[in-house]
Amino acid sequence: MEFKQVVGDRRTIRFFEPNKPVEPEKIQIMLEAANRSSRAVNADFVKAIVCYRDELSEEVREQLKTPTTTIQLDLAPVAIFWYGDMSFAQGAQDRLKELTDLGALPVTHGWSHAYVDDVAFKQVVEPMSKDQMASTWAVSVECGLAINQALLAAVDEGLGVGLHAFNAAAAKEPLGIPDHWIPMWVLLVGYPAEDRLGGGQRPRRPLSASFYRGRYGNPWEEISEVTEDLRRDGMLQDPMDAERRAAEVRELAERFGLPQ
Ligand SMILES: Cc1cc2nc3c(=O)[nH]c(=O)nc-3n(C[C@H](O)[C@H](O)[C@H](O)COP(=O)(O)O)c2cc1C
Repeated sequence: MEFKQVVGDRRTIRFFEPNKPVEPEKIQIMLEAANRSSRAVNADFVKAIVCYRDELSEEVREQLKTPTTTIQLDLAPVAIFWYGDMSFAQGAQDRLKELTDLGALPVTHGWSHAYVDDVAFKQVVEPMSKDQMASTWAVSVECGLAINQALLAAVDEGLGVGLHAFNAAAAKEPLGIPDHWIPMWVLLVGYPAEDRLGGGQRPRRPLSASFYRGRYGNPWEEISEVTEDLRRDGMLQDPMDAERRAAEVRELAERFGLPQ
């Protein structure tokens, strides 16, 4: 699928085909996409545990639920639990020197082994890693980048995905989570039982509500030809129709015996 179409087709899927297996090959493609995400100091900030639903006991699955993550956890055949590794500074010097030797960090921009040791590590990476708030922020951004790549790769493979909160305290022991990993989100994966386009795109505010040129208060002005091109290429699609969606939800509720 073309990139713009993938971005445009992505929806949070909430009804999965519970018994349609997800190929491990497709999960690997998602993990590779995550592993290719851009990353500071070339570190492996993002960690994930791939769980096939039927390999989790029902008791554990119940405990993992939250007020906003309920039956979707029972429907999705795969749940990928994402974590951030707070020990990212370990080995950072070696990785930066490797990038320097390869020329990814070029000498023209001041990079050398001494610069890695005395400046990049000592003045930037190390102080950040010792500051709880700064390092949590850094790890969370890194995880968001990687998770989003996995999510788009899944859509490209014809899968449905949804990112959700989970009960991290309940997950820690059954999943064997190390103390230096901090919980992010669970990504539910499966084939959609609902319309894979979810009845249309979710409402979003215009670009001018969030994006500015030069300074805050000077909104980005949309170029109408670009907006039209994006519509043609599938990044921008028709919005949801509440009535059609209500009918679909009613049908799915009956099929799965869910409350309405
Ligand atoms: C980081 C993150 C956490 C989310 N957590 C939940 C959740 O706990 N429960 C839920 O039903 N949806 C959750 N969602 C899905 C959002 O509600 C969804 O993205 C929103 O409805 C917009 O729809 P779209 O993703 O289809 O564009 C989460 C989404 C993100 C990105």
